[in-house]
Amino acid sequence: MKILIAGSGAGAQALAWKLLQDSAVEKVWLAPGNPATSCAPGMENIPVSSGDVEGLARAALELKADFTLITPTQTLATGVADYFKSRGLPIIAPTCEASRLEWSKGFSKEFMKKYQIPTPCSAICESQKQAQKFADTLPLPVVIKADGMVHGGTGVVIAQDRQHVQNTLEEFFTRNVGPVLVEEFIEGEEVSYTILFDGKHYLPLAESRDYKKLLDGDKGPNTGGMGAYSPVLSSAQHDAIITQIVEPCLSALNSEGIEYTGFLYFGVMIDKKGTPSLLEINCRLGNPEVFTILERLESPLHELFILTLQKQLDKANVRWSKLVSVALQISSEGYPFTERKGDEITLPLLSDTHVFHSSVVSDDGKLISNGGRVIALSSIALTFNEARKKLYETAKQVHFEGMHYRTDIALNINTPSECN
Ligand code: GLY
Repeated sequence: MKILIAGSGAGAQALAWKLLQDSAVEKVWLAPGNPATSCAPGMENIPVSSGDVEGLARAALELKADFTLITPTQTLATGVADYFKSRGLPIIAPTCEASRLEWSKGFSKEFMKKYQIPTPCSAICESQKQAQKFADTLPLPVVIKADGMVHGGTGVVIAQDRQHVQNTLEEFFTRNVGPVLVEEFIEGEEVSYTILFDGKHYLPLAESRDYKKLLDGDKGPNTGGMGAYSPVLSSAQHDAIITQIVEPCLSALNSEGIEYTGFLYFGVMIDKKGTPSLLEINCRLGNPEVFTILERLESPLHELFILTLQKQLDKANVRWSKLVSVALQISSEGYPFTERKGDEITLPLLSDTHVFHSSVVSDDGKLISNGGRVIALSSIALTFNEARKKLYETAKQVHFEGMHYRTDIALNINTPSECN
């Protein structure tokens, strides 16, 4: 089996790594891939940009790929799935219309409200005045989100006082990020719940918890995610998410006539009473959640994709490791506001954690940082303490100028006696 993956980040690399553990998978091409995927056994980079829809389709056809996976949201938004389907090329990705659930917060909020899916009270505002007026009606803190895609997690701010609300709204409208979503803050435990959906049947993946703040102790600005661990949920919380969030969303997609194939990520907040609220929907695996999920997957990944294409995911017999997993992102100086690039990276030659390239390029044989989140690490072990130990031992051996990582990922988390 031969598979094409669009992407150059750590998520694309992790999918390729996992797929190649299946003996049935002989080749994974990455478009365009990264320095790690250029030399890993079974992987090959091809010079096609992850956003070049026609180039990807041409490559899938010429290379006779059995199917294509798309990792960047921006590529989903260009309608890559529609283009592939119109040419009869198998692809695991939602259509352009369906991927609006991720790239328009306004669209996804309207969708949640229309179908009474529990979600924090919010308004989508076209002007600063309107946003300020609505924010004044909410208790502190207030959540402020750009409607569209904003790089590096800078599109979400949790404003702690009235001055911060005002400054953030002023900054968002001056930056011209488009409409702004103002939302009630819900206190609780955040969970990233992801399913694979074939349009008829869904398969829940291992759930994960992401650390969105830049600094230890959940301080500092929001980011795309600095670390994660899995598993997270009790079986009661799991059931509540399925019955109150996942199944209502899938039936709403059906009612709207929105065809969907691929990953669906539900960013859920579980409040103190155990009630889940849907904060956001993404049309892909989360990052860094993807590493914790794939670490714990024991079944052949390619089979899940084949069943998705055949609309037979109900026949999947997925197995998850009883071990626990932890992931860490190492970012560049200035992230998430600026993305310092060009620093030479040193990586450990040997490590018992997995090392993925988030934003790395190669120059004359050297690895060079090329964006905000630079290196991702993931590990699996019997306990969170052990997994953390392995992860942070490796992190200490990664070096580049200005690098930063949180030191408290999965700290003081009890290892559940029973995993999903
Ligand atoms: N870690 C959150 C996301 O991928 O959107």
